[in-house]
Amino acid sequence: MTNLKRCHSIEDLRRAAQRYLPRLVWDYIEGGVEDETCLARNRQAWDAITLVPRYLVDVSQVSLTRTLWGQEYALPVGIAPTGLAGFARHGADLMLARAAQQAGVPFVLSGAGTASTEAVMRVAPQSTWFQLYVSRDARVTESLLRRAIEVGVQNLVFTVDVPVHSNRERDARNGFVPPVKPTLSAIANALCHPLWLARFVRHGLPRFENWAPYAPAGASAKQIADLFTSQIPFTQTWQDLARIRELWPGKLIVKGILHEADAKLAAEAGVDGIWVSNHGGRVLDSAPAALTQLPLIRQAVGADIKLMVDGGVRRGSDIVKAMSLGADFVFAGRPMMYGVAAAGQAGVERALAILAHELSLTVAQLGGWETTMPPERIPSSH
Ligand SMILES: Cc1cc2nc3c(=O)[nH]c(=O)nc-3n(C[C@H](O)[C@H](O)[C@H](O)COP(=O)(O)O)c2cc1C
Repeated sequence: MTNLKRCHSIEDLRRAAQRYLPRLVWDYIEGGVEDETCLARNRQAWDAITLVPRYLVDVSQVSLTRTLWGQEYALPVGIAPTGLAGFARHGADLMLARAAQQAGVPFVLSGAGTASTEAVMRVAPQSTWFQLYVSRDARVTESLLRRAIEVGVQNLVFTVDVPVHSNRERDARNGFVPPVKPTLSAIANALCHPLWLARFVRHGLPRFENWAPYAPAGASAKQIADLFTSQIPFTQTWQDLARIRELWPGKLIVKGILHEADAKLAAEAGVDGIWVSNHGGRVLDSAPAALTQLPLIRQAVGADIKLMVDGGVRRGSDIVKAMSLGADFVFAGRPMMYGVAAAGQAGVERALAILAHELSLTVAQLGGWETTMPPERIPSSH
């Protein structure tokens, strides 16, 4: 059992999650692609930036709220989409969603999520965004969008940075690549994680609930997973983005942009937001850190488009750094998975509380937001 009172940093939650999870699931969450240099680069980019404080400023009232497209969030940080979250803990997507709703931040349900959009909207109506991968079958894509619109999702994230399967060697070694067949060593390791195993045995394979309607009635979790897998690799082009723009009445954010030219094309295609990301170092090992590309993309698209960034955010100070380099909002993926694995919804709430605490201290230590960034980046501005 994780004692959350002993978790003072995201790193503490990370260790607790690693203790709880079998290697197969841990490697899936923690791992990057190939040599994991992109994963390391993400973190190095944050560490390379320093913040110069200003003193003798009244910092007794520091606001952390951020208004995005008319909605006020308690913090400028949200929960990034993470597929297969149900492998970390049964019901993980709903726990992440509830924690986000509780904390007043966005939760992005993954297109490879293990809860349905409808169920997530029921528990987190103010927080839920939906992330889409285009499927081989256009009718499935359109149906996923229609269902999200019907239940009132406002913000759609279209992830574009997985044109083919990623070469994640940790997963290959564990047998956690389609068709999934855990190796004997991975199974033996799972037997050494009895708390995780007991839950897994009790609840069985997580179901891709969003995909259940497209499978035959009564299909097993495995059959639904096979259906989902048959729709990937996700062949996506700029035509798909144009089509999604036509179909989606709400805010559209394109996720996974790293090149300034792509950012410009996305802006021309009428997106409302660009999420600068390298998928947490999970796709192209030679890709630059997302943070490094952020100011270049801000320069390329101007001030009107909202920019999000993720990849290696582990401290509240990282949020300040991102915003001072041009981000309007920041997202974290693994930190929230650590929280949910370690202690369910309470673990995610703890992860968000840690980031909020560190953020408030950093902003106060810097002498307020005004000292670090231009007025349009200052939280609470519209
Ligand atoms: C386990 C895992 C699963 C992920 N699944 C998705 C996904 O389904 N869709 C997506 O757009 N991004 C996915 N991502 C990428 C995250 O949304 C995010 O870009 C990345 O985790 C940010 O880096 P961080 O984990 O260092 O915070 C996944 C990341 C992880 C760690």
